[in-house]
Amino acid sequence: MPSEAELSRLANQLFGEISQEPKPVDQHPMAFPASSEPTLTAAESLPFQLQPPGGWQPSFSASQLTAPQLGPIQPLDAYQIRKDFPILDQQIHGRPLIWLDNGATTQKPEAVIERLNHFYRSENSNIHRGAHELAARATDAYEGARATVAKFLGASSSEEIVFVRGTTEAINLVAQAWGRRELQTGDEIVITHLEHHANIVPWQILCQQTGAVLKVAPVDDYGQVLLESYERLFTARTKLTAFTQVSNALGTITPAQEMVQIAHRHGSRVLVDGAQGVAHEQVNMQSLDADWYVFSGHKIYGPTGIGVLYGKRELLQAMGPWQGGGNMISDVTFERTIYQEPPNRFEAGTGNIADAIGLGTALEYVSNLGLRNIAAAEQELLSYATEGLCCIPGLRLLGQPKEKAGVLSFVLEGFRSEDVGSALNQLGIAVRAGHHCAQPILRRFGVETSVRATLAIYNTKEDVDALVAGLLRLTHGSPRKRP
Ligand code: ALA
Repeated sequence: MPSEAELSRLANQLFGEISQEPKPVDQHPMAFPASSEPTLTAAESLPFQLQPPGGWQPSFSASQLTAPQLGPIQPLDAYQIRKDFPILDQQIHGRPLIWLDNGATTQKPEAVIERLNHFYRSENSNIHRGAHELAARATDAYEGARATVAKFLGASSSEEIVFVRGTTEAINLVAQAWGRRELQTGDEIVITHLEHHANIVPWQILCQQTGAVLKVAPVDDYGQVLLESYERLFTARTKLTAFTQVSNALGTITPAQEMVQIAHRHGSRVLVDGAQGVAHEQVNMQSLDADWYVFSGHKIYGPTGIGVLYGKRELLQAMGPWQGGGNMISDVTFERTIYQEPPNRFEAGTGNIADAIGLGTALEYVSNLGLRNIAAAEQELLSYATEGLCCIPGLRLLGQPKEKAGVLSFVLEGFRSEDVGSALNQLGIAVRAGHHCAQPILRRFGVETSVRATLAIYNTKEDVDALVAGLLRLTHGSPRKRP
């Protein structure tokens, strides 16, 4: 962590002189109207105060990783990795782009962009049903990508991998194709307070359709699931449990394996939402033992519009179709239809062939870097960034879980989140500001919105320094004295 003097110097160098005498907010060149939201008093923010930098423990824990990657962790060079991402080499508002909105979507390496290019230049065809060369090429590439996903997740076979549009579609698929058949009035679904709307609303719809009841496991003031309270929610009527591997709003890494085991002990099926987790730690379906695991390609350096539903083979076989149409049938008459076996049963119509192939390339790209190496580098940068944000006067970080991924969600006293986002944008820094599609957990922390910076493999300490300097410029204060 740079010293306070260095930070001030850096802020000046990057963004011009910072007045040491705080000016009224509306006189500052980057001024924004003071918040219409109630500002936080020191007492209100107390339970969530940042730990002193010296007390910060990196949350990386080797025991959480079920990595096939063996041997020592290799340091990654973010400066080298950046060169693989052409989009990062541009100026926004006259300054180098600093992409810290990775929780919303990650940028794509040249390898993925080139793979899509190659597909449309040399292989484009519909799949599974053509008698010609291009159909064979496209089918091989698509099924090859499915095999890559299966290997990446440690699935038992490619038949356990269904391509969908993304995490949201995967969860809706399970809700409708499994839940609608299996749940009855009075049955229960357990989720947690951390969930993204995509892991809340489909279950609410299912409850309305079936008469099932939604139960929510609470979190503590650090943003960690209270495991005893979670376990107490289970009854003989609990048929389904769904929870996130990593909170998109706080960064909490949930004890997924333990939570799956608890659910199974109580006879419940379990879906794990890997949207924010899949790029940050190695997952393995054999050790995780979730019944379903879902993620989106675009959060792991792959294309948008493609995602994965992993399901245990016997479970997918027992599930009815999701959508009807071509590709998912083996025989159709006007009287009846016989469906394909999974995964085709769940892939009606022409799928997103090119992007599935692009996702395969993205998974190969991260596998080459090594998920354990990625997790270790992210923890180091997270620790550095947490210390940096600690120095911003009036900044309150939301969520201080012991196990945390590269998510820095905060509010800044006297500023609306949207205005902080806009101010950083003027400096070429992309963060997300808003409710992050996770309103219940933000409200648990007493806010409607936050500013969220999320880290990825190409982020450097300089990116973090620029964020800290930009926030200091906005607050135009000296860095907060460290305890
Ligand atoms: N779910 C995405 C996010 O957290 C869009 O930003």
